[in-house]
Amino acid sequence: MSQQAKAPIDIDEIIERYPSKPEYLIFLLQDIQAAFNYISPEALSLVCDHTGVPLSRAYAVATFYQSFSLEPKGEHEIKVCQGTACHLKGAPRLVEDLERRLGVSPGQTTEDLQFTLETVNCLGCCALSPVVVVDGEYHSRATARKLDKILKNLEAE
Ligand code: FES
Repeated sequence: MSQQAKAPIDIDEIIERYPSKPEYLIFLLQDIQAAFNYISPEALSLVCDHTGVPLSRAYAVATFYQSFSLEPKGEHEIKVCQGTACHLKGAPRLVEDLERRLGVSPGQTTEDLQFTLETVNCLGCCALSPVVVVDGEYHSRATARKLDKILKNLEAE
C-alpha cells in the first residue's frame, strides 16, 4: 500500500461529527486533541458554540483530564520521573541536561514543536530508576548519553 500525504484536518469537519448537545463535549475534545495534539482556545470556543456548554465548564473539563492539553505539544513527549528513587539516582541531572539540550523547561515544548519535556511523579517501576518515558516507551537506568542517542534518532526520523 502506498503512503499518501495526510490531508490537513479541518476543525469544522470534527465538530460536525457530533450532534449539538452538551453530552458530546468530551468526544469532541478527544477528537480535537487527537487531531491537533492540543486544544486551541479557538477550538474550545467552537466546541462551546456547538454543544452549548459554557466556556468555563469546557475549560474545567479540558484542564481536569491529563489527556487534554491546552498548550501545543511536541511531536515527541519526554517524561522524566521525579519520584524519590529516580531523584536519588540522578533524575534532576537528566532534566538539567534535557533542558540545556532542548532549550526548554519542564512543561514546555520546543519552538519547532518537536519535543515536549515533562517531569512526572513515580511511575511505579523504581527498581529501574532513573526512568524516562519517551513517546510512551520506558527507558530504565537512563543516562544523559542514552537520552542523547534516543533524541538523535528521533531528530533523524
Ligand atoms: S521513583 Fe521513578 S519510577 Fe518510582
